[in-house]
Amino acid sequence: MCGIVALVGSREASTILVEGLRKLEYRGYDSAGLATVSTHKGSKKGFITCKKAEGKLVNLLNLIATDGAPGHIGIGHTRWATHGKPDVKNAHPHVDTLSQVAVVQNGIIENHTVLRDNLQKQGIQFCSETDTEVIPHLISEALIRLQEEGVTAKEEMLFLAVRETLDLLQGSYALAVIWAETPDVLIVAKNKAPLVIGFAQGEFLCASDTSAFAGFTRTILPLEDRELALLTPLGVEIYDSLGKRQHRTPSLIVGSEKDVEKGQFRHFMLKEIYEQSETADQWIRRFLPNGLSPSSPIALSFEDSFYESIEAIQILACGTSRHAAMVGAHLLEQFAGIPSTVFFASEFRYAPPPLAPNVLTIGVTQSGETADTLAALIMESERRSSLKNNLFSSRQLGITNRIESSLARQVSNIIDIGAGLEVGVAATKTFLGQLLTFYGLAIMFAAKKKRRSSKEINEICCQLRLVPNQLRDLIKTHNKLTEKLAHQFVNTKDVIFLGRGINYPIALEAALKLKEISYIHAEGFPAGEMKHGPIALLDYKVPVISIATQGVVFEKVLSNAQEAKARDACLIGIAPESSETEIFDHLLPIPKVSEWISPLLTVIPLQLLSYHIAAHRGLDVDQPRNLAKSVTVE
Ligand code: G6P
Repeated sequence: MCGIVALVGSREASTILVEGLRKLEYRGYDSAGLATVSTHKGSKKGFITCKKAEGKLVNLLNLIATDGAPGHIGIGHTRWATHGKPDVKNAHPHVDTLSQVAVVQNGIIENHTVLRDNLQKQGIQFCSETDTEVIPHLISEALIRLQEEGVTAKEEMLFLAVRETLDLLQGSYALAVIWAETPDVLIVAKNKAPLVIGFAQGEFLCASDTSAFAGFTRTILPLEDRELALLTPLGVEIYDSLGKRQHRTPSLIVGSEKDVEKGQFRHFMLKEIYEQSETADQWIRRFLPNGLSPSSPIALSFEDSFYESIEAIQILACGTSRHAAMVGAHLLEQFAGIPSTVFFASEFRYAPPPLAPNVLTIGVTQSGETADTLAALIMESERRSSLKNNLFSSRQLGITNRIESSLARQVSNIIDIGAGLEVGVAATKTFLGQLLTFYGLAIMFAAKKKRRSSKEINEICCQLRLVPNQLRDLIKTHNKLTEKLAHQFVNTKDVIFLGRGINYPIALEAALKLKEISYIHAEGFPAGEMKHGPIALLDYKVPVISIATQGVVFEKVLSNAQEAKARDACLIGIAPESSETEIFDHLLPIPKVSEWISPLLTVIPLQLLSYHIAAHRGLDVDQPRNLAKSVTVE
């Protein structure tokens, strides 16, 4: 987790570093810090200035505005606490005893306790509880040793010291190092955590994510695992872990990395909820344009053999992406007839199912950087390739909103959901983009494997084309309705969401959204399961929000809702308006659409209700406590 950014160039580094950190704040916002190297007039030897502040980036900004941080080279960090509380002493950068070496890191050094014990035995005192702090101390030790061994070139010394230190580290890291003695040299390295170098005229920026490069450069080069790079104002040199020089050509960022603003909206989350009609519109334009043949109804570029050879699908994901995957699995099984299972990526890695032949593994992650998902995909690929049997070979597909991400580089097939940058930590438009992508896949599998007639396929495609306008109307109406309704729930302690079938994952997603941004305890249940235990929770203080859409389970969900009402629960319905839905104390109406399509619409009032409850509670909707948008640690 955490975001790192590092710069070497000719301009004042702190301004550019803070600007980069602002774009990376979605990766963590517990504390922030930066360190620069500058020299006194007439001296070649530099000194490090290190500034750190607890809380959001704005606190660091204020600190630098008063204290300053001179230098044309520097490293910056925005933290999501793993080891040690989110306070100033644990904020990055971390320095060695004499404050000559400064380091920022993203990831987890798994053997930090052993390394720390060894260093402490040598008399080194630690200032923080972080795993990172071992790194500047180890580099400093190595520098002293190298000097004793007669290495005199400072740049070479730093390079060798970092390389030696990396050999001692176990776990994941993306890190950047500066040394007071080399005011022109920046060293960066990575293993199992993302790090990309950006190239500009006489300036080089390095960051966890390309979003930090907006307005700086579009020319980038992602580092590979166990590589390290030496950056000076003269250029960039990349080396593998054995010190062998690597030669790769930088590439251009695909698509536009527009700097997004809130505009008229109070929060990014509300803006992104509103943008969902546009997300759907774009998706239809790209994947469902007019004139496609009935045998290939969706504009996906996979060969026919890709669909034909697959007999089962397993989907690995976390959080909101997992809920999209659950809707996807329902569609793939029930619409396209392909056995599909969804796994928590974090569980799959340590308890995978027995290997089956002709399985497609799909990894879903909007950020493309979720460590659990990436690691689970790697593990699955490795165990399949070790069998050396074609039937069991690894076929992987990634679904992401970040085409420059590690996921896109890791899997051979990728679908970019194209929702545009999402800033709010709680996913909304990327969830919709993921859902739509699963509709596309299910339709293609159904068509290619002839599991549905052309008429059925045409019908669902026509319904999908109506979704952008339906969303537009729905968002407008429900923004008003939910804002009013939200007042009633500002002090609520527990909320229960019910759904069935294809809308059960939407109940889970609604509960997650409410938890994430309002800190209200919420659970999602399949409506029929209430009577087997959860119903004991109900009384007049626990609102029950029930998704009841036309289809096979419509009456059943209404009966389950009645059971809740009989326990005095306040009942809110997400359902089409009809005499049957009069049982609800409050109705958030949705249009009458087929059950297949309904999740694309039922999610809207639920997102808006969560948003308004959190906003009424006066919470930081876009950056909720303890969360980060991209979770790059296991
Ligand atoms: C974090 C976020 C969740 C998100 C999950 C998966 O936990 O707080 O909102 O759903 O990561 O993220 P991904 O980028 O893999 O979709």
